[in-house]
Amino acid sequence: MEGLRTLLKSGSRQETIALGRRLGRLLRRGDVVALSGNLGSGKTTLVKGLATGLGVKSEGEVKSPTYVLMHIYRGHCPVYHLDLFRLDSNAEVENIGWDDLLSGEGVILIEWAGKIKGYLPKDYLEIEIKSSGETSRELSLRPYGSRFKNLLKDLA
Ligand SMILES: Nc1ncnc2c1ncn2[C@@H]1O[C@H](COP(=O)(O)OP(=O)(O)O)[C@@H](O)[C@H]1O
Ligand SMILES: [Mg+2]
Repeated sequence: MEGLRTLLKSGSRQETIALGRRLGRLLRRGDVVALSGNLGSGKTTLVKGLATGLGVKSEGEVKSPTYVLMHIYRGHCPVYHLDLFRLDSNAEVENIGWDDLLSGEGVILIEWAGKIKGYLPKDYLEIEIKSSGETSRELSLRPYGSRFKNLLKDLA
């Protein structure tokens, strides 16, 4: 069941990274974060923060895995960073071992997650980013399932 959304604003790239880091510290293995928003809205920037909050040492390591679909970073647990922009069909996610990822050891952060809505688990955090100016962004966080309803209370 989806919960109420939380709206956050960011005024700069650094602010988005800091927000991601704060949220990333609350994540743990098994969590899924589904990101959406236009090109250049800041999905990868937010993932830089999420990853460092999860213990990934260098945010420079975090780049959109546009051509390879997935990057894996080493944090406190594995961090799986997916970018599905180039995904042609839903069925393709099965080729990247989606079921193994879901039942696995890590945190899953997905850019263009709207492409695989039907594959998402019962519990996940949806984050939609909208550009509202050159350096201003609106982030809408919506929890699906109790795990993320509680997590958003902790974030607040
Ligand atoms: N408040 C902000 N939050 C995130 N990115 C911002 C912000 N203001 C400007 N930017 C810029 O917008 C771009 C976002 O790019 P990126 O994170 O790669 O987006 P996406 O992954 O959604 O395509 C970067 O060039 C970043 O510096
Ligand atoms: Mg990106």
